[in-house]
Amino acid sequence: MSAPLCKKEFFVQEFDFEHAGKAASDMRKLLMDYGFDQQIVRRLAIAAYEAEMNMVIHGFGGTLIMEINFEYIELVAKDNGPGISDLKLAMQEGFSTASDEIREIGFGAGMGLPNIKRCVNFLGIETKPGQGTVVTMRVDLGPDAI
Ligand SMILES: Nc1ncnc2c1ncn2[C@@H]1O[C@H](COP(=O)(O)OP(=O)(O)OP(=O)(O)O)[C@@H](O)[C@H]1O
Ligand SMILES: [Mg+2]
Repeated sequence: MSAPLCKKEFFVQEFDFEHAGKAASDMRKLLMDYGFDQQIVRRLAIAAYEAEMNMVIHGFGGTLIMEINFEYIELVAKDNGPGISDLKLAMQEGFSTASDEIREIGFGAGMGLPNIKRCVNFLGIETKPGQGTVVTMRVDLGPDAI
């Protein structure tokens, strides 16, 4: 595979609700500045936000990596959190292990992963209990992407 045209890393802190969403928002600004199509940026920003919040809330924090390639933009959200024991269940709308405190501040509807799935062309999740989670997301760039 050829080297990416651009690669950026954003760090995400566990339970830091003051800065939560900043990685997705910085990434969105960057893609807008580069002149990518608004629909493509919107889809990537939603996926990035949901993956970022999952690292804040469930994953002990982590890293969001964005790579721009000729044919697609890839986002990888990587954490060393507890992992997901039943991925099929986690992908279902409405399933959440979020605590009452987290639900009180408006998260934990169990819609993040299904929302990511809707926004991207490819979603791959590698996870093992106790060994963290790697979420890989890709949005294809058509001829009118920029
Ligand atoms: N990075 C992660 N590390 C560990 N568990 C995760 C991670 N991401 C998701 N999960 C698990 O998958 C479940 C479903 O995730 P999803 O994002 O769909 O919903 P949620 O985060 O609980 O709620 P919402 O995203 O609607 O605020 C989570 O409740 C959690 O148990
Ligand atoms: Mg979520």
